[in-house]
Amino acid sequence: MSDIERLRESLLSAIEAAADLDALEAARVKALGRKGAITAEMKGLRDLAPEARQGAGQALNALKGEIAAAIEARRATLSEAALEARLAAERVDVTLPVRPEPQGRIHPVSQVLDEIVAIFGDMGFKIAEGPDIEDDFHNFTALNIPPEHPARQEHDTFYFAPGPDGERKLLRTHTSPVQVRSMQATKPPLRLIAPGRTYRCDSDMTHTPMFHQVEGLVVDRSTHMGHLKGCLSDFVRAFFEVEDVPVRFRPSYFPFTSPSAEMDIGCIRKGGELAIGAGDDWLEILGCGMVHPKVLASCGVDPDEYQGFAFGMGIDRIAMLKYGIGDLRGFFDADLRWLRHYGFAALDIPTLPAGLTS
Ligand code: PHE
Repeated sequence: MSDIERLRESLLSAIEAAADLDALEAARVKALGRKGAITAEMKGLRDLAPEARQGAGQALNALKGEIAAAIEARRATLSEAALEARLAAERVDVTLPVRPEPQGRIHPVSQVLDEIVAIFGDMGFKIAEGPDIEDDFHNFTALNIPPEHPARQEHDTFYFAPGPDGERKLLRTHTSPVQVRSMQATKPPLRLIAPGRTYRCDSDMTHTPMFHQVEGLVVDRSTHMGHLKGCLSDFVRAFFEVEDVPVRFRPSYFPFTSPSAEMDIGCIRKGGELAIGAGDDWLEILGCGMVHPKVLASCGVDPDEYQGFAFGMGIDRIAMLKYGIGDLRGFFDADLRWLRHYGFAALDIPTLPAGLTS
C-alpha cells in the first residue's frame, strides 16, 4: 500500500470513528487544518522532482476532496442524530394536565400590612421596629404612664417572672414603645410607621391575646393637628378605596398625647351589612393626638423646639372592616379553609399605582 493509500485509510477511519461533532472537528483539523496531514503532504510536493510532482499533486488533491466530502457526510449524520436526541430530550407531552396554581395564600393581616406600608411609604414614612418583649420604661413610663397610673390596669399586661435584678419584662401592650425607641435613636425630623404584634390578656369575638397594631409618628418643628387630620384622612380614603369617606375626630384621652382624639369614619349599616363611605353612622378606627411634651422630654427631644403627632391603629380590626371578616379569632386558627377563603394571591403585591387590591 502506498503512503497516500495508508494516509487515506487512517483519515477515513478517524472520520468514521468520530462519535460527535466535536470529535469530527478534531479529525478535520488533523487532516485539513493548517498543520494537518494532507496540508503537510502538500507542502512536501515542493521537494519532489517536477515530473513526480504533477502525479503526486493530483493524487493529493483527489484525496483532499474525498476527505472533505467524507467529513461533510459524517457531519450531516451526526447533526441529524444530535437533533433527534435533543427533540427526544425536550419532548413535551401536551396531553398532561396543566400545572396547578400556587397553593399558598397571603393572610389578610399581611395583605393589609402591605397596603398600609404602600400608602404611608408613598407619603414618605419610614418603617421602624421594636422588640415584642419590652421593659416597663418603654411600654409605660416614658409614655407618661407612671407606676400606679390607672391606664396600666386597662392594658391587661402579660408580665414575665422578675429577673435577678427584680425587673419584670412584659409583652408590649401597644406599638407606642417604638415611638420612644425611635425618638431616642434618631433626632427629628421623624416620619415613621411601626407595625407589629401586640399583646393583651383579653379574648372574645373582637379581641385576641395577640393582635397587630401600626403606630405612626411625625415629629418636626411645626407639625400640628392639621397635619394629623390631613394625613389620616388621606390614609383612610386610600386604604378603603372609597373617594368619599367622611372622617370625624372625637376628643379622647391617652396619657402620651395631648390633645388626644379618636378618629371615626362614616359608614352605612343595613341589615347586618356594613359599607364604608358617606352614611348616617360612624365607626371608630384609631386613636391619635399630639405627642405629649413629657413624652418628647423623656425621649431626649426638646419640647420647646419640636412637636409631633402620633396615632395607633388595630391592623386586624381594619382588615375585618375592609374585607368583611366577622370573627377575629379565625385570624389565628391556622385553618386552611379559612385562609383559602379570606387569603390573597401571593403575586398580587399591593401598590398605589397598580391598585391595592386587584
Ligand atoms: N397606643 C394606643 C392604644 O394602644 C393608641 C395610640 C397611639 C393613641 C398613638 C394615640 C397615639 O390604644
